[in-house]
Amino acid sequence: MAAEKTLDDLFLDTLKDIYYAERQIVKTLPKMAKAAVSPELKAGFEQHLEETQGHVERLEQIFELLGKPARGKTCDAILGIIEEGKSIIEDYKGTAALDAGLVAAGQAVEHYEIARYGTLKSWATQLGMKEAVALLDATLQEEVATDKKLSQVAAANVNQKAA
Ligand SMILES: [Fe+2]
Ligand SMILES: [Fe+2]
Repeated sequence: MAAEKTLDDLFLDTLKDIYYAERQIVKTLPKMAKAAVSPELKAGFEQHLEETQGHVERLEQIFELLGKPARGKTCDAILGIIEEGKSIIEDYKGTAALDAGLVAAGQAVEHYEIARYGTLKSWATQLGMKEAVALLDATLQEEVATDKKLSQVAAANVNQKAA
């Protein structure tokens, strides 16, 4: 029989998952910024790269609060989402639809992060980890804002150019 596992275990495992994911995103955003044609989209990815570095740091603070080493755990979901983004760059390079594809890839990443941070925040609340709740919420708000901004960039010009 499996050993008894608790919400604390699930919280730590999921923290490792998003820590791995954030570090993959730090590596990926410069490639998306480089590929983007619209200056606004390029700047958006660059700004979110800076924020994402902050997300990694906030997660490290949470590991510290838990007294655990900051360690990632391979997240197949983010690897798949990033792989799809790479395919879009390869398949749509030089076409009018590239930016629309990059927005879609970016939004898939943000939605994954929003799902993870939303869950972690509610578990941290349940576990009475007030400082962790504040750190997770700060990142969650930046993910939500980035998702909205991507929608706005797409609506403002990217989608029309692609049509
Ligand atoms: Fe993030
Ligand atoms: Fe993000």
